[in-house]
Amino acid sequence: MRKKIVAGNWKMNMDLEEGLKFVGSIDKYFKENPPEKGSVILCTPFIHLAGAAQILKQGKISLGAQNCASEASGAYTGEVSAWMIRSTGAEYVIIGHSERRSYYNEDDKLINKKTLLAINSGLKVIFCIGEVLAERESDKHFLIVRRQLEEGLFTLSPEQMDMIVIAYEPVWAIGTGLTASPDQAQEMHKYIRDLIKEKYGSDCAKKMPILYGGSCKPSNAAEIFSKPDVDGGLIGGAALKKEDFTAIVEAL
Ligand code: 13P
Repeated sequence: MRKKIVAGNWKMNMDLEEGLKFVGSIDKYFKENPPEKGSVILCTPFIHLAGAAQILKQGKISLGAQNCASEASGAYTGEVSAWMIRSTGAEYVIIGHSERRSYYNEDDKLINKKTLLAINSGLKVIFCIGEVLAERESDKHFLIVRRQLEEGLFTLSPEQMDMIVIAYEPVWAIGTGLTASPDQAQEMHKYIRDLIKEKYGSDCAKKMPILYGGSCKPSNAAEIFSKPDVDGGLIGGAALKKEDFTAIVEAL
C-alpha cells in the first residue's frame, strides 16, 4: 500500500511567534489524535524550520520547506540551500510550485536541478505540476503535465524516485475557491501514474503518492481523497486554520 499524505503549504504567512505557536498547537492535536506515521507534513517558511523541528521532534508530524536554492552552496546572496534545510531537521521540500514557476520564472530545467540537489542533500521532494486555465480550456492539460514530468522529473534514477511525492495542482484551482471535480482529479492522477509506469515500471507507479492541491477544504476533501489514484492533498489556505487542517487530515 502506498502512503496517504496531507501536507500543509503555509506559503508566506505567519511571523515567527505566530508560526511556532501554531506548530505547537498542531503538534499537541496530533499527539492526542495520532495519525499514521509520515502522513502529515507541515511546509513552513524558512524562518520557522529550526524552531518547528525542535517542537516536532518527539511528535508524529514531518516538516518541510517550500523552496530551495538551485546551487549547493557559495556566493548566492539571499538563497537557502537544500542542505541548510536538511540541517534544521526538515525532511521535505516543495519544488516546482506554480507560484514559483509563474512569479519567479522557474522552468522545468531549473526545477529538475533543484530536485536533484534536494535529493542529494537527503530531502524528500514534493514535486508540483499542473496546468493553467487556458491550457485546460484548450485541452492541453495532459500535454503540459507530461512535459513537466518528462523534463522536471524523469531524469531521476528509479532509486531517486523513492524520494518523490507528486502533487497535481491545477493552477486554476489554487486559492480561487474552484476545485477540480473528483473525476477530473482522478483522471489526471491516473494519467500521471500511467506515465510513471511507462517510464519506471509498475512497482514504482504503485508506490508513488500523488496528492491533489487546489482549494481543498474540509467540505470537499473526503470525496476527492476517495478516488483510487488520489493519495491525499497539498493544502494552502485551509492549512492555516487548525480546525480545517485537522479535519482534512481526518478525511484521509
Ligand atoms: P489553496 O489550498 O489555498 O488553493 O492552495 C493550494 C496550494 O497551492 C498548495 O500548494
